[in-house]
Amino acid sequence: MKISILTLFPKMFQGPFDHSIIKRARDNKIVNIELINIRNFGIGKHKVVDDKPYGGGTGMILRVDVLKKTIDKVKVFSNKRREKVVLLTPTGNKFNQKIAANFSRLDHLILVCGHYEGIDARVEEFVDEKISIGDFITTGGEIPAMLITDSVVRLIKGALKEGVVSKESFSPYLEYPQYTKPRRYKNLRVPKILLSGNHSRIDKWQNAQSIRKTIKLRPDLLEKGVGRRSRNWQINIRGLGNIKSRHIID
Ligand SMILES: C[S@@+](CC[C@H](N)C(=O)[O-])C[C@H]1O[C@@H](n2cnc3c(N)ncnc32)[C@H](O)[C@@H]1O
Repeated sequence: MKISILTLFPKMFQGPFDHSIIKRARDNKIVNIELINIRNFGIGKHKVVDDKPYGGGTGMILRVDVLKKTIDKVKVFSNKRREKVVLLTPTGNKFNQKIAANFSRLDHLILVCGHYEGIDARVEEFVDEKISIGDFITTGGEIPAMLITDSVVRLIKGALKEGVVSKESFSPYLEYPQYTKPRRYKNLRVPKILLSGNHSRIDKWQNAQSIRKTIKLRPDLLEKGVGRRSRNWQINIRGLGNIKSRHIID
């Protein structure tokens, strides 16, 4: 998979992509991350990329012609199922694990970072999706792009060991609690079942804990995740307290 990031500040990406899982995925050619400097497509001798907003207001707005030229240069496919141009904007759809999984199946993901006061609204005509990382404002699209790239790369086939991501939080429930040494810390003990060596019972316990935690902390996820998996777990949740059957079986 290829991820192209269109930015005015490519140097901001030095570091975050040079460690851990992303570095390994890049080294193993599982992902190719390309940083494109929007400035190279600026207008005239001074490579102008922005201007004052029409109608007045503070700050500078990135120009539509410059961004369109940059996007066109970077696009490889015409098929939207293989390639998506995504604009990072606080007014976009809220990013989540499902969107990350969809992006990870593309051949080419193009992330367009705004900066300064924002971008000319006409750019929206030339992108496939608009994505926000949450209801807050970051200085530019660079940190949102890093965050999205990180969560997408770990979902690309081959980036992590088989099976690792399928039990992580938001797949679709919250992950069960995990423990390591020491077995006892002050008066806090690791649950006995995890020391039993009985993998089938441990598996059931983890599934039940996953549902219990989701009910307690994020019941909205449970509503979305009802289905065959929940039905299979019905047997595991005996003793979990007062759970509405609606939460367990669809
Ligand atoms: C300072 S922000 C502009 C905010 C804009 N004036 C507004 O109020 O909606 C500059 C750039 O940062 C990026 N950005 C800021 N917050 C974001 C968020 N929550 N999600 C995704 N991108 C964001 C966008 O690319 C945006 O164009």
